Amino acid sequence: MAEPHALVTGAAGFIGSTLVDRLLERGTRVTGVDCFTDYYDPALKRRNLAAAASHPGFRLLELDLGAADLAALPEVRVVFHQAAQPGVRASWGREFAAYTHHNVLATQRLLERYRDASLERFVYASSSSVYGDAERFPTGEDLPPRPFSPYGVTKLAGEHLTLLYGRNFGMKVTALRYFTVYGPRQRPDMAFHRFCRALLRGEPITIYGDGTQSRDFTFITDAVEANLRAWERAAPQGVYNVGGGSQVEVREAVALLERVLGVKAALRFEPRPPGDPPRTRADAARIRADLGFAPATGIEQGLAAEAEWARGLYAGARS
Ligand code: NAD
Ligand code: UGA
Repeated sequence: MAEPHALVTGAAGFIGSTLVDRLLERGTRVTGVDCFTDYYDPALKRRNLAAAASHPGFRLLELDLGAADLAALPEVRVVFHQAAQPGVRASWGREFAAYTHHNVLATQRLLERYRDASLERFVYASSSSVYGDAERFPTGEDLPPRPFSPYGVTKLAGEHLTLLYGRNFGMKVTALRYFTVYGPRQRPDMAFHRFCRALLRGEPITIYGDGTQSRDFTFITDAVEANLRAWERAAPQGVYNVGGGSQVEVREAVALLERVLGVKAALRFEPRPPGDPPRTRADAARIRADLGFAPATGIEQGLAAEAEWARGLYAGARS
């Protein structure tokens, strides 16, 4: 039988590129889609795809899902839709137009392309930001979503679109609500990447608020594993939290990174920006029961892996 063929959107990004590598490693053929938005340096995205680019099972289509003719996309068994305009704190003001384009319109167009395609699974990368400033912890999937940022609204819209295409057209859809993902290749606008870079360059770290805000930080290989399980274990239609399994305050993470990198941080405090929730914590019961998923990498090990990767990225910087 021919090897399975997957489509990964956002293939050059942090999560998408790691998923691509994992699929190729397992013998799945991959068509990647990315338009290399300039939200952060596209050279970093090219670097993410360096290994995949020379793999015979990989093909890259450079196109904008919100604008291109999607008839060119291949027939595949599974779609992992990771493409989006990310970033909670940057989604205010004029930037919102990019969020609606990349997160809402692009998702609707991709669903239209595949609605009659008999996919084994369409996996949508959703976000803990659909819960916003949640009313209950740990937060279960059935709590009515109440985003706290414009970004969260667009991710929720994309999730609703995915689910309603599932209900109307019988598409097998799953939405994975990732909780703050970290690890090698993390986006340069995200906290741990910024902290590593600052520590390696001998620059101060900026902490929003007092650093007691906390996240259910999720290691990248765990987020990737959840995608594979959603496909292979044929998750029922619906939404799943994907959390890292612990509650970590930002100031605790800084202390861990200081230890791993052997550098004392100079801290600079700034007010907590609008849209930034004080806490996230996933209720993991549903994904454990349906997909047998439990996170495998804890925060100490995960931060050490990210710090090691950042050392390579910023080699030559003061350390
Ligand atoms: P990323 O920015 O590194 O990757 C997204 C990729 O999508 C980028 O390479 C970008 O160029 C591409 N892209 C954006 N719009 C596109 C379009 N219209 N057509 C084609 N390509 C397009 O982001 P990431 O951190 O890897 O996030 C991946 C997904 O996971 C996103 O959907 C994001 O909302 C979601 N998510 C991420 C986190 C996290 O902590 N990183 C948490 C929750 C949800
Ligand atoms: C992350 C991703 O950026 C979103 O794309 C994703 O959708 C979201 O997770 C999610 O889980 O849904 P965020 O939690 O803000 O958003 O991730 P980080 O940038 O890693 O920030 C974590 C915490 O560190 C935040 O409370 C933030 O205020 C704080 N932070 C960030 C700082 O104190 N200093 C910084 O320089 C950056």
